[in-house]
Amino acid sequence: MRKKQTTSVRLPDVVERSLIETERFAQRYAMSSEANLRVVELEALGSDYQATGYTTRKQADGIGRLLALEPGKVLVDIGAGSGWPGLYLATTFGCSVISVDPIMEGCSAAFDRIDSDGLVPRALALLGTGEKLPIRSGSIDAIVHADVMC
Ligand SMILES: C[S@@+](CC[C@H](N)C(=O)[O-])C[C@H]1O[C@@H](n2cnc3c(N)ncnc32)[C@H](O)[C@@H]1O
Repeated sequence: MRKKQTTSVRLPDVVERSLIETERFAQRYAMSSEANLRVVELEALGSDYQATGYTTRKQADGIGRLLALEPGKVLVDIGAGSGWPGLYLATTFGCSVISVDPIMEGCSAAFDRIDSDGLVPRALALLGTGEKLPIRSGSIDAIVHADVMC
């Protein structure tokens, strides 16, 4: 009997690393705010949005002031994950926000947060990337991207 041949494909390191990171973020976003993680995040960043970056609440407040966010303005948060800092900025400054991230678990967590914070209809979460934003040009006032390299 002939032996079945298998071929293993080695992915380029950069793709391998990207897949590992994506999986790591997806697990974090799917981990709905566990109490102990919330305490750590609150202590470290001053946020409780299942953040995966390093942007502090103080920095987010500074960004909001710098961008002159206010009711009626539309902010896009690229690589928002579960909504930090875009959803926080919408709550704090009263602007509208479009949260964009390529990971479904992140968008899903952002959706839950939009719902629980009563941000409908001025906030939404879309699956997408910074390279190809799922947004019509000319329809936004400001962009934020916290701890995202794309
Ligand atoms: C370090 S996390 C930061 C998430 C969030 N801004 C925060 O501070 O908690 C980076 C995020 O960028 C997203 N991301 C990766 N590649 C991206 C791309 N090409 N366009 C937009 N977002 C991307 C990841 O899915 C991940 O949620």
